[in-house]
Amino acid sequence: MIPKHVAIIMDGNGRWARMRGKERIYGHYEGTESVRVCCEFAVEAGVEYLSLFAFSEENWARPEDEVTGLMHLMARSMLNERPTFQKNNIRFVVIGNRSRLSEELNRDIDTAMEETSGNTGLTLIVFLSYSGRWDIEQAAGRFAAAGAPEGKFSTFLATADIPDPDLLIRTSGEKRISNFLLWQCAYTEFYFTNTLWPDFRKNEFRQALDDFASRQRRFGKTGDQI
Ligand code: FPP
Repeated sequence: MIPKHVAIIMDGNGRWARMRGKERIYGHYEGTESVRVCCEFAVEAGVEYLSLFAFSEENWARPEDEVTGLMHLMARSMLNERPTFQKNNIRFVVIGNRSRLSEELNRDIDTAMEETSGNTGLTLIVFLSYSGRWDIEQAAGRFAAAGAPEGKFSTFLATADIPDPDLLIRTSGEKRISNFLLWQCAYTEFYFTNTLWPDFRKNEFRQALDDFASRQRRFGKTGDQI
């Protein structure tokens, strides 16, 4: 079975670059090629939602030149990929604490989101300046203010109209969630690989999907009930 929603923590760019005696940003640039390949493969495989953790709230604490470089990379990728989104019928969405992004980047994000809002193929969600706790906190505030009934909490999360991830992939050998989709991953299957993100391409993605297909998801029920 193909997961409807795949989320990825793209990790290991810095190490990939350092292993080659290069600056960390070089790994991020190579990582954008993996992003492109994985989007293409997601479309090919029939994945409906692809979520990418591109920049966490905690990442703001990285050295200034790396943060600037990453923001520049996001802006450049968005500009370059817009025609590809249209060609491949991809709906592009950015989720995160956008008040921390520059006005210019926010404008480019809005343009790309508006331009692709009618596309009906893959929904590509880039998480920028995002953290799961930020999301829960902002949702809790709005939930309380609205006096909303029990059971409706998830409709206040930034991911309200997106189904929970079926599969979460993390590259580079780290085995933690790092404040990504905390609420949304309640029943998500996790897949960890030692492959560094710039090396995570079609074959690695296919392997993760094959592994997912072999899992039995029980959602709290017994195996006999499935
Ligand atoms: C983690 O590797 C990676 C990031 C913090 C950035 C990921 C961003 C991209 C791949 C850029 C392009 C994204 C899009 C959506 C266009 P790390 O730096 O933590 O690596 P390390 O653990 O080896 O230091």
